[in-house]
Amino acid sequence: MSVRRLAEDQVQPEGFAFNAENQKWAEQTIAKYPEGRQQSAVIPLLMRAQDQDGWVTKRCIEHVADMLEMPYIRVLEVATFYTQFQLKPVGTKAHIQVCGTTPCMLRGSEELIKVCKSKINEKPFETNKDGTLSWEEVECLGACVNAPMVMVFKDTYEDLTPERFEEMIDEFEAGKDVKTGPQIDRQFSAPEGGMITLTEVPDRKATIVAKAPAKKAATKTKAAAKPKATKQAKAEAPKVPVKKPAAKSDDKAPLFEAPAGEKDDLKLISGVGPVLERKLNELGITKFEQVAKFTKKQIAEVDDRLSFKGRIERDDWKAQAKALAKGGAEEYRKVFGKDPR
Ligand code: FES
Repeated sequence: MSVRRLAEDQVQPEGFAFNAENQKWAEQTIAKYPEGRQQSAVIPLLMRAQDQDGWVTKRCIEHVADMLEMPYIRVLEVATFYTQFQLKPVGTKAHIQVCGTTPCMLRGSEELIKVCKSKINEKPFETNKDGTLSWEEVECLGACVNAPMVMVFKDTYEDLTPERFEEMIDEFEAGKDVKTGPQIDRQFSAPEGGMITLTEVPDRKATIVAKAPAKKAATKTKAAAKPKATKQAKAEAPKVPVKKPAAKSDDKAPLFEAPAGEKDDLKLISGVGPVLERKLNELGITKFEQVAKFTKKQIAEVDDRLSFKGRIERDDWKAQAKALAKGGAEEYRKVFGKDPR
């Protein structure tokens, strides 16, 4: 954990003011708190100031203290305690906070820090020569399940390897949108490679049969309490059309006729783990070529069966499969500049 002090006087600006939009927002935010509790707005106001100027200056701390009628020292305590507040100018494109707490350390955060030192600056809080990137080590950021991880402004990047982290830094520098969250085949904090438990579809018929006697008894009691409709009343009652339930597709039936020949290793497609590969095979998908030729309709159907909406397009399975079908790993490297998987 680094010592957190205000930046030297030479870099501190003369004054601070919220712009018109932020001033209005700040006043509305303060007004949300009950009379006498306005000081509770201190963190939102400091965050807004940081979003506006990129860091929290001494004048900003004093300005927020005046707005909330707080002693300067109280606001200074808040700003210097939380690592979310930057107390000196940081990289304009990315300030990388590397979690160095035990779970992340055991999973390789020290290697990530080495990457920061070699690609950004030997020292934390110092920017690279263009002023676009900077880094620091922080304590647990609450995503230990996907350690090691880093945070850049308000986003987290998890399950990192030094190689992927190096690529990410290049992407930040190039101003690209970097994929947030886990950087491997994992959805949020679900198991890597897809679900490994609770994968069976429950047998609904068996559940209904098991519940039937209880339901019958309940129906009988209800029937006893209900007066019987006379024949005449029944004849006069308007006929309500009975809605038949829509025919349900067999969610276990294959969608494709599996092509003859040896299966391709679909796990080479980034985003496909062993579980997804098995499910794809069950749907009759065993070749890269099939994936490369997916139509929009087929993508929707496969998505539906895999219960991972949007995954095929998000990870661009089609482009990956096209390269793999054309020239295997070599073609993949040529197109994507990295090894498959
Ligand atoms: S230890 Fe790194 S996120 Fe918790």
